[in-house]
Amino acid sequence: MDRAAIIKSTVEFVRNRLSGETTGHDWWHIDRVRVLARRLGEEEGADLFVVESAALLHDIADWKFHDGDLEAGPREAAVWLEKCGLEDEVIEQVCDIVGSLSFKGAQVPTPMASLEGQVVQDADRLDALGAVGIARAFAYGGSRRREIHNPDIGPESHSSFEAYQSGESTTINHFHEKLLLLAERMNTSAARRLALDRHSYMESFLERFQREWEGDS
Ligand code: ADP
Ligand code: NI
Repeated sequence: MDRAAIIKSTVEFVRNRLSGETTGHDWWHIDRVRVLARRLGEEEGADLFVVESAALLHDIADWKFHDGDLEAGPREAAVWLEKCGLEDEVIEQVCDIVGSLSFKGAQVPTPMASLEGQVVQDADRLDALGAVGIARAFAYGGSRRREIHNPDIGPESHSSFEAYQSGESTTINHFHEKLLLLAERMNTSAARRLALDRHSYMESFLERFQREWEGDS
């Protein structure tokens, strides 16, 4: 298969797998991430085939739905790309990205070696911010039976992936535990610009939420 055909079949593969998913990790999340990643990749001069493949496959077997197994994603991505007949070297590039994309806790660094990985990570994180990010957070929280908010439970700053994984916080706390930390962790300056705008939108949402909670608005 040539590269255009690989992208086309990968779109079909991922769309079939993730259509109708209801926790915010659905096909449309993947589609937004790939569009944004391609845009950032173009601006940064990244290899757009690697960027698009990694964006398409990045949530194919997310650890959050595979008992915390960080290897499930890259493993499934590799099986698929081998089936497509892609060269080993490029498969490795894509799977390295899929395996190291995820946020792992406030105090846990998530370094991304390649430029291609950096733009996909930025695009994935941008989709966790702003209006879309707010919608996704509550969808995911509800799916995990998390409370919307509970003033008796405060946010935590996780110092290990294990602590982050096993945390049982509320969705409002997730903003403090992850979402509000993402803007300053962007890899590229184009993504940082977009992130700041989405970040301030979330801050106003949280302020308003608090005012309404207290009956002041
Ligand atoms: P990452 O791999 O960095 O976690 P994903 O693409 O898997 O990124 O998407 C994470 C999405 O899931 C975000 O929109 C985030 O808000 C949501 N999410 C993850 N953990 C929680 C949580 N504990 N509470 C609410 N939403 C969450
Ligand atoms: Ni994602």
